[in-house]
Amino acid sequence: MSFLIDDVLLEEIRDRAEIYEFISGYVDLKRSGSNYMGLCPFHSEKTPSFSVSPSKGIFKCFGCGEGGDVITFAMKRENLSFTEAIKFLAEKYNIELKKSKSSINREEEEKKKRFFEINKEAARLFFANLRESKAPLFYLQKRGLSQKTILKYGLGFAKDSWDDLKNHLLNKGYKEEDLIELNLLSSSKSKSYDRFRNRIIFPIINAKGEVIAFGGRVMDDSKPKYLNSSETPIFHKGSNLFNLNIISKEGKRDKILLVEGYMDVISLYNSGINYSVASLGTSLTENQAKIIKRYAKEVYICYDGDLAGINATNRAIDIFLSVGISPGIVSLPEGLDPDEYIKKYGKISFEGQLKSAHSYLEYRISNLREKYNLKEAKGLSDFTIAAAKILTAIKNPIEKDVYVKKFASKYKVDENVLNNYIGYLKKNTYKKEGTKVQKPKKVLNIKSGKLLAELGLISYSLKDEETYAYIKERLDIISFSNMAARIIFEELDNYYKNKMSKEDFFQGLIKKDLVTREFINNIASMEISDYEDKKIISEYLTTLERANLIRDKENILDSIEKIAGTKSSDKNTLKELINKLQEINLKLSDLNEGGQK
Ligand code: UTP
Ligand code: MN
Repeated sequence: MSFLIDDVLLEEIRDRAEIYEFISGYVDLKRSGSNYMGLCPFHSEKTPSFSVSPSKGIFKCFGCGEGGDVITFAMKRENLSFTEAIKFLAEKYNIELKKSKSSINREEEEKKKRFFEINKEAARLFFANLRESKAPLFYLQKRGLSQKTILKYGLGFAKDSWDDLKNHLLNKGYKEEDLIELNLLSSSKSKSYDRFRNRIIFPIINAKGEVIAFGGRVMDDSKPKYLNSSETPIFHKGSNLFNLNIISKEGKRDKILLVEGYMDVISLYNSGINYSVASLGTSLTENQAKIIKRYAKEVYICYDGDLAGINATNRAIDIFLSVGISPGIVSLPEGLDPDEYIKKYGKISFEGQLKSAHSYLEYRISNLREKYNLKEAKGLSDFTIAAAKILTAIKNPIEKDVYVKKFASKYKVDENVLNNYIGYLKKNTYKKEGTKVQKPKKVLNIKSGKLLAELGLISYSLKDEETYAYIKERLDIISFSNMAARIIFEELDNYYKNKMSKEDFFQGLIKKDLVTREFINNIASMEISDYEDKKIISEYLTTLERANLIRDKENILDSIEKIAGTKSSDKNTLKELINKLQEINLKLSDLNEGGQK
């Protein structure tokens, strides 16, 4: 196992592996003042010159020069590498080692691979079971599925047994705990048993062709109708769709139809419509909408016509709009679902329903219509107001115009009044949104000395006009590398000229989205002192200057490396760069000396 080595771990080792205690396991140590002395284990000697300092956590031999901390000692004495020494000490002192990222990842990858394999093996067994039993095959035939469709979807059957699958997979050498985690087995009171029993099995297959989960349907009216795999390391409902494997194989198509159920998808396929997907028994997620967008230009929603279906349709419309798709809505007559409709009326008729699909706007407005009594004036005006709110959402002005005209003539309301009202709503919603919009707050890396210096200089500049003038005189504005810091500094002229309050000044900048509240809070939390302020300010200025010189130096070194790497290296430029480098080095050493005084 490779493990994570970081400062926290090293700190803990130095803490727990007390150097005196550890080394006295190898060397006979005698107290000498605050230190201990003994015969050096690294060279042969008769009088002790090997010293251990518990307070500093180090050892040192004045004879041979060896020295270091407890880790170094373990490396030298036990002949170990750095990592091995850490492991050695961690074991000795019961310090927990965390797995490194790469080894966690490798284990995760292996686990996923194994899980795909197990699911595939389970799907094979279910598939074979279907051929052995009459009832499930009969059920599928009764529902009109052809042999070809059953094969295409790899449909199967889980026997009416508590351990058919369990025994099969255990015999193949798979571990019980894996089968439980994959949700193929349920467990209670330390006993595990097949989760799917006496059910038709629908394998859920991802775009890569891997079996990621299963759905299982009863063959009668018992409940629950479907059992599905719950979330597992290889199955995340919200980012998968049923039929994705078939859709993705046949590439980007012009349309995708979103339906509710497994049986809808399969039955449509059975009748020649191979471009539907189902959202796995949950309401559509944004992730799923994005996946659908990847494969199709046009999207149609065809959910059930009952109240639950209408609500689900409205939710799905919002999700599609949020990823930039305007879905069409298919409302099948007689309360039929896609499976029932296509069996009753056939493929051509079903495609006709798609052609006469409503836009989502028409769908929403006509849903709305049923809530109002349009024969009464109040009903009509309430309905118009509610519809205007929907029409406000149309971004494209031409599209909006078409819908407004359509609506006005259909419901006999004044087009101008409707347009004005929409305009009014738009203005107000934008205003509301305008104040709501806030960029996500970023956490500043306050550890950076440079940023601290920039924040410090700003705090002092805000102290009073005199200090600001003092700083401004000594500071080139381009020294600020933080954008927000630079903006605030540049605005300080206005701040003093207009005698603004600090809060107003900050509020103004935040409103204009120039700085974040968080950044301001960081400035406010800087301590400024009343005496020695010039000294502190000059330290801040030095920090900035040094950071900028180092940046320049790095740029020059980069250029030198590039030029030196080319065959026809331009000697003059090179010389110039080297001169500049020397200049910077001089300035840097001046700064450092100044800083040490
Ligand atoms: P439906 O009840 O519409 O199922 O539920 P269906 O696929 O059309 O099946 P048939 O025609 O009755 O055989 C739609 C989807 O909701 C999920 C399933 O994904 C189903 O396909 N569901 C439904 C469950 O997960 N559990 C249930 O008990 C019912
Ligand atoms: Mn159905």
